Amino acid sequence: MRLSSAAKKAVIDKAKAIIVEKNGESHLNGISSRFVPVDDKWGVKFTTRGNSYMSETYTRQRRGFRLGIAPFCFGIFEYTCELVGYKGEKFLATFTCYITEIVKVLVNTYGMFYTDDVPSAFVEAIENLINMCQEKLGFRFWDYHAQNLGINENGEIIIIDWGDES
Ligand SMILES: Nc1ncnc2c1ncn2[C@@H]1O[C@H](COP(=O)(O)OP(=O)(O)OP(=O)(O)O)[C@@H](O)[C@H]1O
Ligand SMILES: [Mg+2]
Repeated sequence: MRLSSAAKKAVIDKAKAIIVEKNGESHLNGISSRFVPVDDKWGVKFTTRGNSYMSETYTRQRRGFRLGIAPFCFGIFEYTCELVGYKGEKFLATFTCYITEIVKVLVNTYGMFYTDDVPSAFVEAIENLINMCQEKLGFRFWDYHAQNLGINENGEIIIIDWGDES
């Protein structure tokens, strides 16, 4: 997975424009961060929870990628931009962001329905597996759910949410 620094900069520049453009939309918003596709291959994750939260998330995802269990990611950056609120008021917002590879998600977070191309029986099997793992571990945590899982190009299950609740 190699991109030249010029190609990386082009994706980051596009992401900055998209953060401003899509900020008002709730589509695919998580609790801690937002994920918005930049193009077919790359998406941007951004948060207002600050640099240390996102740096830790980014570092965990990079480590996960090296282990083969996370999408590739690059280019953590801070971005301050002017946004327009729902009453038309202008304000400045600072986001910490990084670019992540888009993978097929197992479950659509907000609709709570399965994505068209992933059979529901498969998702149910994964959810059963999650439950079995939790029983074996002897503890549960709320963010251990199928919405935080994706499928990579080899058809393997990977983790897409590397935030500290996960
Ligand atoms: N690499 C990715 N490829 C495709 N979709 C993604 C990717 N990362 C995130 N998403 C989508 O964006 C949603 C929110 O991302 P993520 O789970 O990382 O954020 P979050 O703020 O921690 O969400 P939550 O708090 O709801 O778990 C995901 O459930 C998924 O639908
Ligand atoms: Mg999540």
